[in-house]
Amino acid sequence: MIIAVDGPAASGKGTIARALARHYGLPHLDTGLLYRAVALTVERLGLDPSREADAVAACDFDERVLADPLLRSDAVGQRASIVSAHPLVRASLLQRQRRFAAQPGGAVLDGRDIGTVIAPDATAKLFVKAAAQVRARRRHAELQATGSSIGLDQVLADIRARDARDEGRAAAPLVQAADAAPLDTSNLSIEASVQRAIEMVEAQRNRG
Ligand code: DC
Repeated sequence: MIIAVDGPAASGKGTIARALARHYGLPHLDTGLLYRAVALTVERLGLDPSREADAVAACDFDERVLADPLLRSDAVGQRASIVSAHPLVRASLLQRQRRFAAQPGGAVLDGRDIGTVIAPDATAKLFVKAAAQVRARRRHAELQATGSSIGLDQVLADIRARDARDEGRAAAPLVQAADAAPLDTSNLSIEASVQRAIEMVEAQRNRG
């Protein structure tokens, strides 16, 4: 069973994907981390994320970067969004994601193009979304908890910029797959979102 979870930044897709992996006893891959690893490596090599050749050079990143706490920062997320628009970067990371999805027992992957490009034949596909204001409030609260003093307006502007880039790029843009079930978490608690996600996966795997 392959479960594809896609959606925009701070929609709750990562939390939902992790909970689904636990529920079904499947391995989970947060594919955003791969693009973030490329972005952080580009930065450390002193290269330019907007140049495709520079970003491609960083695709062969040292695996240890995947455990770097800096990977989860918003600044790295913005740059990940920039490197991810390059077709050659996406091509370079494709096989690794497909291999993960093809594990014998199945897998849960979350990202932007899992249901459309990485695993178009997934058993279940969810498209997790939430209003930009709601996503900004959640992300702002998370950042405040880590001692950041960034303002809510700035967080909202960053989210809008990332949405525009991820949806607007030519290569595998963020878009809901035709056969994905939409899950709007704007007015749902984490527990309710996870419950709803499990129900949607069950409905899709039993559809015959
Ligand atoms: O999910 P995230 O915020 O960690 O993703 C960071 C960036 O990586 C995101 O803005 C776009 C890119 N990305 C992508 O293009 N395709 C994916 N499957 C996952 C992430």
